[in-house]
Amino acid sequence: MKKILATGGTGYIGSHTVIELINKGYEVEIVDNLFNSKITVLDQIEKITGKRPKFYEVDLLDGEKLDEIFAQGNYDAVIHFAGLKAVGESVEKPILYYRNNIDSTLNLLDVMKKYGVKELIFSSSATVYGVQSDPSYVETMKTGGEITNPYGRTKYFIEEIIKDYVVANPDFEATILRYFNPIGAHESGLIGEDPNGIPNNLMPIIMRVADGRIAKLQVYGTDYPTEDGTCRRDYIHVVDLAKGHVAALEHMKAGVSIYNLGTGKATSVKEMISAFEQASGKALPHEFAPRRAGDLAEMWANPSKAERELGWKTELTIADAMRDTINYLNH
Ligand code: NAD
Ligand code: WQD
Repeated sequence: MKKILATGGTGYIGSHTVIELINKGYEVEIVDNLFNSKITVLDQIEKITGKRPKFYEVDLLDGEKLDEIFAQGNYDAVIHFAGLKAVGESVEKPILYYRNNIDSTLNLLDVMKKYGVKELIFSSSATVYGVQSDPSYVETMKTGGEITNPYGRTKYFIEEIIKDYVVANPDFEATILRYFNPIGAHESGLIGEDPNGIPNNLMPIIMRVADGRIAKLQVYGTDYPTEDGTCRRDYIHVVDLAKGHVAALEHMKAGVSIYNLGTGKATSVKEMISAFEQASGKALPHEFAPRRAGDLAEMWANPSKAERELGWKTELTIADAMRDTINYLNH
């Protein structure tokens, strides 16, 4: 069985993936600087899986400490979740985002080369597609055009860096996973999305409205050219997404492979509110607000490449995600 290092493994997507990996018998270690996650996630992983992954509280920008981790790790593969992800903050602090996301990836590639670790899975994003004329996004589309924020550009640049790295290291196996909109939580209710600071994504905001920390959800835009006028996105249950990483790990091959991880279906903001209300049995306070800059009317994944090549497709629904989110909130 492969030994895996998960960077950012105490974060939202990382922690759910670590659980799926441990359940499949992989040995997993985590490096995270706890900038946007909590050490208690390790206790929850242990409760769910019976195993406590070895944990390094290290910033990936610290190349020396990263080297020490690899010197003893003997890893077969790295899943690189670590990064800053707040779109709005990235507009205000572009240097922070470029330095954190890009320099940490450069450090990682350097140390992987030094210790002969040849498999990398990278957490990319649908944001790399920018604006396209067709809302059903497919991996063959050109990336990098009209990305509206520095966060998105870090993902695009890192994808290009990985491609260049593979040209120079042809036996390297890189898989780039482009996530659509991850939501939901582990069915145990023990882990979920719990960002430090003020959230920007729809579901964490809905959660804070539900528990009273935010008074009302602002629905950004009701005049989009969609059926109900609100934006539509491809929301993917985080456990399905986590399983996509396991499938990717089982199908690594030399070169760069790129996969969309999404459901192939889009849901509007109004439909998300209704689904949450149905699952919770309570009204969700919300009001209609102007459009948010940079939002596209609609986008969803064409996930057929992942199904064809990785044998992976989503199984969970929006209703499942809402149920699990509420269960997590109640914990
Ligand atoms: P998250 O913030 O919950 O997890 C990221 C983790 O990385 C955090 O625990 C944080 O402390 C850690 N980290 C950040 N910079 C670090 C550094 N320099 N050194 C060590 N640790 C560092 O975010 P997430 O939602 O789990 O996202 C995981 C990855 O997936 C990110 O790269 C994100 O950009 C990408 N992604 C997320 C989404 C989404 O909507 N959640 C969508 C597409 C892509
Ligand atoms: C979803 C929908 C909003 C908040 C972002 C990143 C993308 C990826 C996923 C990392 C939109 C609406 C939101 C609110 C609202 N992340 N909304 N009121 O914008 O699709 O994608 O997260 O890679 O790169 O850009 O996700 O959750 O912010 O918004 O009405 O308070 O909810 O307008 O239609 P988005 P989101």
